[in-house]
Amino acid sequence: MRPRSTQAVLAASFAAAGSCHDTYCQQNLNLSTVSWTVSNPNGSVSVPGKFPSQAHIDLYAAGVIPWPLYGLGDFDLRWVAYSNWTYTSEALKGLRQDADSTWLLFNGLDTFASIEFCGKHVAATNNQFRQYYFDVTSLLKECKSNPVLSINFGSAPNIADAIAAEPGQETWPFGVEINYEFLNRQFIRKEQSDFGWDWGPAFAPVGPWLPGSIVQLAASEFHIRNSLVDIYREGQLNLLPPDQSRDWVVKTSLDVFGKLPSDASLTYSLQDASGKTVGEGRFENVTSDSSTITGSVVIPADSVNLWWPVGMGPQTLYSLKIAVDSNGRTVNEVTKRVGFRTIVSNQGPITQEQLDMGIAPGNNWHFEINGHEFYAKGSNLIPPDVFWANVTEARIKQLFDSVVIGNQNMLRVWSSGAYSPDFMYDLADEMGILLWSEFEFGDALYPVEKEFLDNVKDEVYYQVRRINHHPSLAYWAGGNELENLELYVVENAAPKELDRYTAEYETLFLDTIVPILFGNSRSISYSPSSTSNGYLELDFSLPQPITERYNNKTPGSIYGETDHYDYDSTVAFDISSYPIGRFANEFGFHSMPSLESWQQQIDPADLYFNSSTIVLRNHHYPPMNTNTSNYANSTKGMVEMTLAVERWYPAPQKEDPIANFSAWCHATQIFQADYYSSQIQYYRSGSGRRERQLGSLYWQLEDQWQAPTWAGIEYDGRWKVLHYVARDIYQPVIVSPFFNATTKDFEVWVTSDLWSSVKGAVNLTWYDWSGKRLDIATPVTLPVTVGAINSTKVLQTNTNDILKNHDPLDVVLAMSVSVEGQLPSSNTTQTLTHTNWFHAAPLSVAHIVDPGLKITPGKDSFTIEATTGVAAWVWLDHSAGVMGYFDSNAFWLAPGEKKEVGFTVTGGEWIDGTTVQSLWDLTLP
Ligand SMILES: *[C@@H]1O[C@H](CO)[C@@H](O)[C@H](O)[C@H]1NC(C)=O
Ligand SMILES: *[C@@H]1O[C@H](CO)[C@@H](O)[C@H](O)[C@H]1NC(C)=O
Ligand SMILES: *[C@@H]1O[C@H](CO)[C@@H](O)[C@H](O)[C@H]1NC(C)=O
Ligand SMILES: *[C@@H]1O[C@H](CO)[C@@H](O)[C@H](O)[C@H]1NC(C)=O
Ligand SMILES: *[C@@H]1O[C@H](CO)[C@@H](O)[C@H](O)[C@H]1NC(C)=O
Ligand SMILES: *[C@@H]1O[C@H](CO)[C@@H](O)[C@H](O)[C@H]1NC(C)=O
Ligand SMILES: *[C@@H]1O[C@H](CO)[C@@H](O)[C@H](O)[C@H]1NC(C)=O
Repeated sequence: MRPRSTQAVLAASFAAAGSCHDTYCQQNLNLSTVSWTVSNPNGSVSVPGKFPSQAHIDLYAAGVIPWPLYGLGDFDLRWVAYSNWTYTSEALKGLRQDADSTWLLFNGLDTFASIEFCGKHVAATNNQFRQYYFDVTSLLKECKSNPVLSINFGSAPNIADAIAAEPGQETWPFGVEINYEFLNRQFIRKEQSDFGWDWGPAFAPVGPWLPGSIVQLAASEFHIRNSLVDIYREGQLNLLPPDQSRDWVVKTSLDVFGKLPSDASLTYSLQDASGKTVGEGRFENVTSDSSTITGSVVIPADSVNLWWPVGMGPQTLYSLKIAVDSNGRTVNEVTKRVGFRTIVSNQGPITQEQLDMGIAPGNNWHFEINGHEFYAKGSNLIPPDVFWANVTEARIKQLFDSVVIGNQNMLRVWSSGAYSPDFMYDLADEMGILLWSEFEFGDALYPVEKEFLDNVKDEVYYQVRRINHHPSLAYWAGGNELENLELYVVENAAPKELDRYTAEYETLFLDTIVPILFGNSRSISYSPSSTSNGYLELDFSLPQPITERYNNKTPGSIYGETDHYDYDSTVAFDISSYPIGRFANEFGFHSMPSLESWQQQIDPADLYFNSSTIVLRNHHYPPMNTNTSNYANSTKGMVEMTLAVERWYPAPQKEDPIANFSAWCHATQIFQADYYSSQIQYYRSGSGRRERQLGSLYWQLEDQWQAPTWAGIEYDGRWKVLHYVARDIYQPVIVSPFFNATTKDFEVWVTSDLWSSVKGAVNLTWYDWSGKRLDIATPVTLPVTVGAINSTKVLQTNTNDILKNHDPLDVVLAMSVSVEGQLPSSNTTQTLTHTNWFHAAPLSVAHIVDPGLKITPGKDSFTIEATTGVAAWVWLDHSAGVMGYFDSNAFWLAPGEKKEVGFTVTGGEWIDGTTVQSLWDLTLP
């Protein structure tokens, strides 16, 4: 494995860092190696703690609280969130009295902490996302015994309420601040979803959630606490496609404490993955002050290879060693693993050349990697656990494996969680997953008083510099659903106040964030909001170059991203209800997790569809306060799922209550997957229409608990129907049916996101449900050619005309496409195929028959066969406890067709017990 960046790693126990001086060398005490106690203010609870940690994790480990995700723990554990929790160290041995300076360094304190060292107050903190460091030299010198470090974390909900109640505090029109459970999250810089969200519980955890250390230095030493590396093409400016023929500029800037030598200079050594040095020398134009040192160097374009996202080329990574030299020798150094790529969100005006290609006027909104347009395929990542301190690299690796196997190349890391740890970006760098990243603001407007903005400035400065060197970093957005939702709510609730709140929005998301972001990174594009209509103008002579477009639109022109939720399932498959834009960054519908997941966290007595535990774990729609008995809101969301199943599929009515529950859970997943598939196919085919649509990121990749949510992957890693279906429909070349149930217009499209044209044919085979071939007046084989990242309509007809004497209830169509094409990452031509099915009537009323499914276990796979009819939505289910995925699932089979399906185990041991069913099984008693 290629070495990762070394600065983020806090070495075990006492470790020397940097180079040693004659008599003394820097030493770090890693706070994870110390014993900790966690206690509440009156001392009634006092248990062993970990570091990093969050109180719930330690209270659970000590048996003080039950498993937080079990049953109604979301409500029952409020008392933990309403209490303070103090992390107290053992008396710290081994700190050196002869050090010239001693510092506390915390990479993350969640959130309101009062810190004491040797019984003396050191400081108070109020931002989960900042790195804090404190000089405790004199406190250590005065300390009579081995010092104790204690960190008293306040209750975040109580403190948020207290801040909201301060006289003169900012207020917003009703409906602007979207509340889930605890209120007033917009006043505090803490993970916003810790106060509840519509897909998660509200634990509001506290604790030292990231590593910390005590750093001791000699008088002439300094510690590098954070470092920036920005790699861009000469002349490159944010948001603008750079000239790909130019050389690379590598800029670095180190944040330090201690004594930076006045004659400090910077050198670098760049090595490829094999360890071969491909460049070395001095940084130029070095400037420094007491806390930073900055320099730049030009690296010739031909001395390095490009980094590409998965499917587009290799993930070439380099190791960049940056050394600080003084007086002719290296006094400190840091190594960053980097990649050379440009990634731009092109929101520029549609050009004449694009108009000539048939693209609608307006502005672009798509990504370009190394100067190439590409189709972004992926989903939205939510915080993978309610307790970040418990998120391991192994779990993220497993999740990211599912992303890559799922044919996804981009994740939108949703903005009201926490900034991703370096190991997530490291994995994404290695696996080629682009991470659209966001500042942690969402579904609210925020205060703009100086103290709040100053706090945000420190957060943005730290996080931008920490993350920027990762080639997987694709984009920064200010926050989630701000322009399209928040300002829209203001406009409707208090139109006279729109100017004021828009100005405040710009104060935070443009005037505060942009100068810091663009001042540190020339390589990354930014928009204040996901979703937005993009910018109206860019003027880099201004400190803040972006002017937002808002609704300044020319009729007939197309701008910006789309975000689409419609819980009226009557229109789920009506493509005219989908938004037309350049990029779809969010869309979805909730579904139930599987029976296997529910069984992990629910009392067996609660395993039925509308049991109170299940209803109250459904947070769509959210309670909007800490009321534990808001059945009204959650029932609405349960009803939406129920109606969707009844409307579109055979509604289960099984005698066995558990089997019935399981069938209902599964049916909601089929609807979800069917609906997403329909939208994804529509968005992807838009690459060839006038909207030139170039991205589809559905809501949401994964779960953080077991509940009805929009996820495609359940909390333990099990794939829902959605993840399999998305994997299929995110293949490079797909064939798609589009049907208008009113007019009966029927079209077949082929879409390709390859970077060169593909050529081949589509076969159409009509059946009745029993599998008899129908003679229907459409061509059997249609030739097809699709240009680079484009789509083609291969058939346009009307089912009234072609079905004539066939009952639509008894008609299905199998469509197969086979083309020759070249993957962007390869220079040989290969055959790409895809199969899809169309049914002329909703499956709830269609004359489906028993397909006579057979499953035959083989050595490493199963053979599935439909013997007596067309099998719709064939579903293989693996035993609980097995982690992994089938090669294919949720597919259709023609009668007589055999399909061999393997299973990849990613965790646990394989357990026999795989079952197979299809849509027909929903009809059985
Ligand atoms: C945290 O992770 C550890 C190690 O995987 C596990 O044993 C523990 O149960 C988890 N605790 C919580 C509260 O998630
Ligand atoms: C609770 O924590 C807050 C924040 O650190 C602190 O200001 C307050 O004094 C603490 N209260 C108690 C009772 O420990
Ligand atoms: C250093 O500064 C000079 C003068 O401004 C400039 O021409 C040169 O491009 C800079 N070098 C780098 C590597 O940025
Ligand atoms: C897509 O293909 C059509 C048909 O060949 C062509 O007219 C159109 O210009 C292409 N669009 C783009 C953006 O390449
Ligand atoms: C949810 O419940 C609250 C009262 O607790 C109510 O004000 C709100 O309108 C409800 N929201 C929805 C979407 O039903
Ligand atoms: C069918 O097409 C018509 C005309 O284009 C459109 O207005 C309508 O919304 C579509 N309806 C459905 C159900 O697809
Ligand atoms: C289409 O049908 C022809 C003739 O049966 C066959 O050779 C070809 O493989 C089929 N192509 C696809 C994509 O199924």
